[in-house]
Amino acid sequence: ETPEQIAAFEARIGAGEKIESGDWMPAAYRHQLIRMISQHAHSEVVGMLPEGAWITRAPTLQRKMILIAKVQDEAGHGQYLYHAAETLGATREEMLDALLSGKAKYSSIFNYPTLTWADIGMIGWLVDGAAIKNQTMLAGCSYGPYSRAMVRICSEETFHHKQGKEMVVAYAQGTPAQREMAQDALNRWWWPALMMLGPSDKDSPNTPQLMRWGVKLKTNDEVRQEFINEHAPELIEAGLTIPDPELHQDAQGNWIHGPINWDEFWAVVKGHGQMNRARLEARNKAHDDGAWVREALNAYEARRVA
Ligand code: 3HC
Repeated sequence: ETPEQIAAFEARIGAGEKIESGDWMPAAYRHQLIRMISQHAHSEVVGMLPEGAWITRAPTLQRKMILIAKVQDEAGHGQYLYHAAETLGATREEMLDALLSGKAKYSSIFNYPTLTWADIGMIGWLVDGAAIKNQTMLAGCSYGPYSRAMVRICSEETFHHKQGKEMVVAYAQGTPAQREMAQDALNRWWWPALMMLGPSDKDSPNTPQLMRWGVKLKTNDEVRQEFINEHAPELIEAGLTIPDPELHQDAQGNWIHGPINWDEFWAVVKGHGQMNRARLEARNKAHDDGAWVREALNAYEARRVA
């Protein structure tokens, strides 16, 4: 890589051009995108597990139908994103192996348990709400295939977000038992939702390069602030109490949160969360249970080309 090549590449980024899979790009740009996109795809696929556990226990047929559609959407998002990573030269086998072996990361948020039905609503409202802030930002990403995948994913996430908010507001204004379930869910999901958007900027080693090359258009703290500014007033308006006694609005109208437990975040990222082991076991079991399909496909393909 010559300085001239890097300069020409950065001029394209500066001009707001999209980089496509066949274009010249620095190896570090390719590496960053494979890292981010593959981990995003893993997050979508693992993210099906906490919600999937409640499909058989949804309180009504309508809620069951909505949840099935949402989990199906997550699977589709995973497929888009694995394909986007493949346009950069990553193979499906390598990415799956990295996930199943525990080497690859996926979003910390999915290592928390879904203990009650109200969690499903809270995931829709808070987790998909945070994902929309992050993914709307990434829709402007300089890498064409990723930014286009984000546009499609964001439109589906909007439905996920709305159905979650509608559910939680109904429970927050429902019977005392429903209100208690909604508050308990908020108590357990508020802080993990803030952490999901990544470490604070001073502890975010990838952000400077990602901002320089137009992969991220906003930093982790900026996206987190957007998330809190939208969701804090709405949760309070729904009659819920946000489990952060220091949360307050500053003169500019930004909601300022109390200290985030980054020790918990890094412990979860490093595999010591409540559900990390269960998630990897579930993914490995699904992979093993599906081996016969891959074998049948390979046998069919071998016979077809013979
Ligand atoms: N969970 C697990 N690991 C995380 C993390 C999280 N919430 N936040 C950061 N990390 C990891 C990073 O991957 C990085 O490790 P690595 O270099 O080994 O990959 C390390 O912590 C340092 O973090 P950085 O801030 O330097 O990393 P990034 O600049 O990549 O920022 C990010 C982190 C904001 C998550 C960014 O990677 C990103 O925007 N990724 C794409 C979006 C995504 O993956 N979202 C996950 C949720 S998917 C989802 O919500 C599904 C929806 O349907 C609900």
